[in-house]
Amino acid sequence: MTDSIAREQAVRRVRELLAPRGPLCALIETFGCQQNEADSDKLRGLLIEMGYRMTDDREQADFIVLNTCAVREHAELRVLGVVGALKALKDRKPDLVIAVCGCMMQQEHRVREIKTKYRHVDIVFGAGLYHRLPELLKTVLEERRREITLADNTVEILEDLPTARRPGVRGDVTVMYGCDNYCSYCIVPYVRGRERSRAPGRVLGEVRELAAAGTREIMLLGQNVNSYGHDLAQPCSFAQLLRQVCEVPGDFWVRFMTSHPKDASHELFETMAQCKKIAPQLHLPVQSGSDRVLEAMNRRYTAAQYLALVDDLRALMPDIALSSDIIVGFPGESEGEFRETLALIERVRFDNLYTFAYSPRAGTRAAALPDQLSPGEKERRLQALMRAQEKISRERNEALVGSVQRVLVEGASKRDKSTLAGRTAGGKLVHFAGPARENTFVDVKILSAATWALTGVIIE
Ligand code: SAH
Ligand code: SF4
Ligand code: F3S
Repeated sequence: MTDSIAREQAVRRVRELLAPRGPLCALIETFGCQQNEADSDKLRGLLIEMGYRMTDDREQADFIVLNTCAVREHAELRVLGVVGALKALKDRKPDLVIAVCGCMMQQEHRVREIKTKYRHVDIVFGAGLYHRLPELLKTVLEERRREITLADNTVEILEDLPTARRPGVRGDVTVMYGCDNYCSYCIVPYVRGRERSRAPGRVLGEVRELAAAGTREIMLLGQNVNSYGHDLAQPCSFAQLLRQVCEVPGDFWVRFMTSHPKDASHELFETMAQCKKIAPQLHLPVQSGSDRVLEAMNRRYTAAQYLALVDDLRALMPDIALSSDIIVGFPGESEGEFRETLALIERVRFDNLYTFAYSPRAGTRAAALPDQLSPGEKERRLQALMRAQEKISRERNEALVGSVQRVLVEGASKRDKSTLAGRTAGGKLVHFAGPARENTFVDVKILSAATWALTGVIIE
């Protein structure tokens, strides 16, 4: 039986089993990256197909799905905290069904932990198996037993799953799954499996749908979008795919993440510079400014090669907004090597930086290296890096004061409901007074700047 027939049968059976209980509510909590968010859209689609209404309230929920992340210890501890807290709810509501899925559940030791220590969890499945949710739930409802499945991340890409997107201005489109890079610190290749590209026609079909529905921002997703297409029967580079995406009619920005520097090409930069729809923004994680650390991380570029990429891109797009990821306290990172990272960020002057203290991940090569740094030292470096970047971010933002920016209106500002918030093409948060309709573009003159946001007024 094919996966999709099995799924349809299971969906029908679950609907029958749940019908006598009246309208039921489901809740998804997502802990991971944008890829995980996109997977949660599919899970939400399946839940709605099975007859659930979505809720944000744990107390109201009859089915709770936790979509987990394993990238750092902190992410896993948050998940375990929530799983633990759900025990009391389950004691009060014995019919509550709890599922834990996603990247963390691709790891055997975590699955074992849930199985033995968190016996109130009914369903466990890994990131490669989310399409199996209806079958797993059917078993739990019919046989009143737990359903803990083994990890499997080799599955083909399944294209016919329903999707229920989060509300908002952005439409995420996954272009590829998995990662083949094996950066020595990273768990993602182990939990997400090998790189698999979606056919260009599938990607374009989804972009056309979103554009026709009025989506103003299309986000193309993959762990390393720059290696898109090499595994397809008819190879297609990411730059070629981008050009086709930009040909889709509609008024929208195209963004994408993540780009690995080793595969970022001049062809990509030229495409970005030439296609008006591609937002002038690039997230290009550098991870470290030290060649020795980069080598130990298995990143396959040097600091000089990274800087050459930035120079090449800036020659083509002087106003590009650049962001990056940095890990401090990789095993054996000396004070001098950390200073090389500080020097690199001063040289590049990123608009925005995502900074992380190295977190050992079981089964990765770096976790077995000697010279692990103390938590205190990692924290000290993290703070120093963040302080250095805050100054740069503020200065980069201040340089925009007086300019007029095209801004996509996202809605009421989170910090002050009487003002609006939106993003510039470069991805910067802007606060401004309305009126303006959500999901439209307005021109905003920037009046002042802070580290994390700009403030401005709409000009006619
Ligand atoms: N595929 C993307 C994103 C991977 S996860 C990329 O290659 O950039 C996002 C970020 O988390 C990484 O860029 C890295 O900076 C950070 N990260 C990954 N594993 C980590 C670990 N073990 N400890 C600390 N940070 C980590
Ligand atoms: Fe992890 Fe490296 Fe793959 Fe990114 S490219 S997901 S950091 S292994
Ligand atoms: Fe994303 Fe975390 Fe998985 S970063 S791919 S949800 S391990």
